[in-house]
Amino acid sequence: MAFHVSLVGRTDLSGEIYRQIRQAILDGRLRSGERLSPTRELAAALRVSRSTVTVAYESLLAEGFATSHTGAGTFVSHQLEAKRPASKTRRSIHAIRVRGVWETISPPTVFVRARFDFRTGLPDASLFPHRAWRRVVARALRSHEMAAGVYENPAGDWDLRAAIARHIGISRSVSGSPDDVIVTNGTQQALDIIARVLLEPGDVVAVEKPGYLPPKYLFKALGARVIGVPVDSEGLVVEALPAEARAVYVTPSHQYPLGVAMSLSRRRALLTWAEHNNAVVVEDDYDSEFRFGGRPLEPLQTLDSTGRVVYVGTFSKTLLPTLRLGFMVVPPSLREAANKAKHVTDWHTAMITQSALARFIDDGAFARHIRRASRTYSERHEVLTAAIMRDFGDYLDLVPSSTGLHIAAYARRASVNHIDAIASRAFDLGVAIQPFRVEGEPQAGIMLGYGAIETARIAEGLRRLRRCFDERATRRPEAA
Ligand SMILES: Cc1ncc(COP(=O)(O)O)c(C=O)c1O
Repeated sequence: MAFHVSLVGRTDLSGEIYRQIRQAILDGRLRSGERLSPTRELAAALRVSRSTVTVAYESLLAEGFATSHTGAGTFVSHQLEAKRPASKTRRSIHAIRVRGVWETISPPTVFVRARFDFRTGLPDASLFPHRAWRRVVARALRSHEMAAGVYENPAGDWDLRAAIARHIGISRSVSGSPDDVIVTNGTQQALDIIARVLLEPGDVVAVEKPGYLPPKYLFKALGARVIGVPVDSEGLVVEALPAEARAVYVTPSHQYPLGVAMSLSRRRALLTWAEHNNAVVVEDDYDSEFRFGGRPLEPLQTLDSTGRVVYVGTFSKTLLPTLRLGFMVVPPSLREAANKAKHVTDWHTAMITQSALARFIDDGAFARHIRRASRTYSERHEVLTAAIMRDFGDYLDLVPSSTGLHIAAYARRASVNHIDAIASRAFDLGVAIQPFRVEGEPQAGIMLGYGAIETARIAEGLRRLRRCFDERATRRPEAA
């Protein structure tokens, strides 16, 4: 890569080239051993004579910043200590005004690994079938279409859309053709696209309370008015929905954070409500591939007969969140606008991973992986559930749940106010848990994920957690 030298308004051209390259070597942008552009090339790029560049290079050679090997070129000297490029702390000349909404939105969570990691939303990366994945990626890289070098359909790779439509048709009874499927960079992008397609500034979006925060922040950032609607043991309380809601975002298979499944009567009530109020229902089915008992309920998308449900799925839990692969099944009336919105957002999701995933699903490797991972998660779910009921009865009320990668428990009265302190003390002991609160209510609790923790570590992790609850409970009131 030719090194950029700015010569605008300069007179001492050789000196300027020398100084700028020397500075780049000193601050680590040019690394030791790196080849400098050949003098002829740099001269042509800068529109100066070759001798101007040669003079600059001679100074660098003379001062030991560079070495030359006859016939091979000029290189940054190996004698210099390797330096990491300094992160630039540029003086802020003008503070650019940022929209106020960003002050109301929490910064992204940075995941620092914990020894006893009960955080939610994380699958077990050690279960990921690396060999099979490498094989399909290598194949995608070799494939003819990849080499075509053209932009693709925003909705995604046709084979993947067909594979997804087949897979969710079988595993979730979701009805949809490949034409209805749009491949996205995870759930979050699917929600972004839906919001862009549906919402005018100031439109109301109903979300669950307590609920998953990233969508709430997203809708707010896009100018929507977000209203939290209570959740009980049957899921979203439909009677509490604001009549003016244009869209309702729900997690019916495994409510986040509580883990309850929306009852069939609530599902029907929600669809009827959406029809009466001319609203769209966004169904986030993020981790329902993992089921450990009970009969699965029909997704809202399947029960819907009026075309008001957008079904959103992700590979973040079944495979890895770092793949950033998800999808949505859109009703026909939204298809065209959603395709346009995907296009203006990022044109399309990376084709190599899409093509690899299509093959991975078609080969049966995906279904095999889910079967295998389910056995592991099922065991962890059982161990964790039993331990919480057995050992935490005085502090926590477990919310029954038989799906997904986390369970939740409400804190009993005495622990409600201390839940954050307990989580923070637990973290000091190597145990990561996620507390949740119910906005405006005296309710709080914890979520315990079992995707990232080895089964054999659960008991010790919980023993330490129990210690944190005990410590709080035995504190003198003034200290508590
Ligand atoms: C409720 C919910 N939806 C969706 C996701 C997945 O998001 P994405 O597909 O953007 O990784 C998560 C991950 O934790 C989640 O908790």
